[in-house]
Amino acid sequence: MGSMPIAGEGLSSQPMGIRTGISALIVVLYIGLLASATHMVSHFENRDERPGFTLDDVTGAYHGIDSPGLLGTALERGHPETLPAAQRELLLSWLTGGRIVEDYDSLDLEIPPAEIIDLSCIECHTRAAGAATGSVIPPLEYFDDIKEIAFSRKVLPTPVEVLAASTHAHALALSIQGLVVIALACMTRWRRRWISLLIAIMGLGLVGDVGGWWLARFSPSWTLCIIVSGTAYSVSQGILLASVLADLWWPGASTSGTKQQTDTE
Ligand code: HEC
Repeated sequence: MGSMPIAGEGLSSQPMGIRTGISALIVVLYIGLLASATHMVSHFENRDERPGFTLDDVTGAYHGIDSPGLLGTALERGHPETLPAAQRELLLSWLTGGRIVEDYDSLDLEIPPAEIIDLSCIECHTRAAGAATGSVIPPLEYFDDIKEIAFSRKVLPTPVEVLAASTHAHALALSIQGLVVIALACMTRWRRRWISLLIAIMGLGLVGDVGGWWLARFSPSWTLCIIVSGTAYSVSQGILLASVLADLWWPGASTSGTKQQTDTE
């Protein structure tokens, strides 16, 4: 009790065949980790219906996103103050009516939305104005500009059955993978203090990752937990694997002080 168990003589004294086999499998594991990262980005990239891989993609996948478009939000919070109330109402009911494209310049409406925007918005919302102010002002010159911010964004989370299937596969495989890495790392000659810290990070990382997938259904704030934990699991595992590789091939003056080296082979 109390004292840290000392590291053994390490793996470098193992026969060449064992060291080669373990090393080759570690290389494959690295390829797998790299492939996971690439797959994750391409798999989630478009979840939030916007280019690039962002936090919103992960939120979209695990929690879902339901946010009104930028245009509706601006109008609702009273922007621009100069807009007559009746026209604001008309624009808002156009945006929520489900006929954004059809009714954009419809003459059936009291005033077509296109005309209101032309009269009340364009003076400030041009590309030139945006450029002049460092582009905090979205352009509203063309219907394409307007479409970009008119639609609300609704992203459904991954269905529960799919998430359950994914958890079933990942939880079993990744935990076993982690345990195998731990077993190898514990056989190295390296200081237990560091190995122990990395093992703790790796284990907690996987709990946070897989747990986060489910908790994120209740609150989108768990999205960050998924990303931080998943990264912690992968990075600490990568370092542990590197330490195993180093121990396999670094010529072994053992740190435990025993002279077994001469007895074997
Ligand atoms: C007097 C100038 C002016 C007029 C008129 C004006 N805007 Fe703006 N608008 C701005 C400025 C400046 C910003 C950026 C700063 C801000 O968000 O208030 C902005 C921002 C916005 C944004 C982005 C909001 C966000 O949260 O980033 C939207 C959408 C918008 N305006 C829509 C409209 C619409 C629709 C109209 C016409 C009905 C309109 N604006 C009329 C000056 C104007």
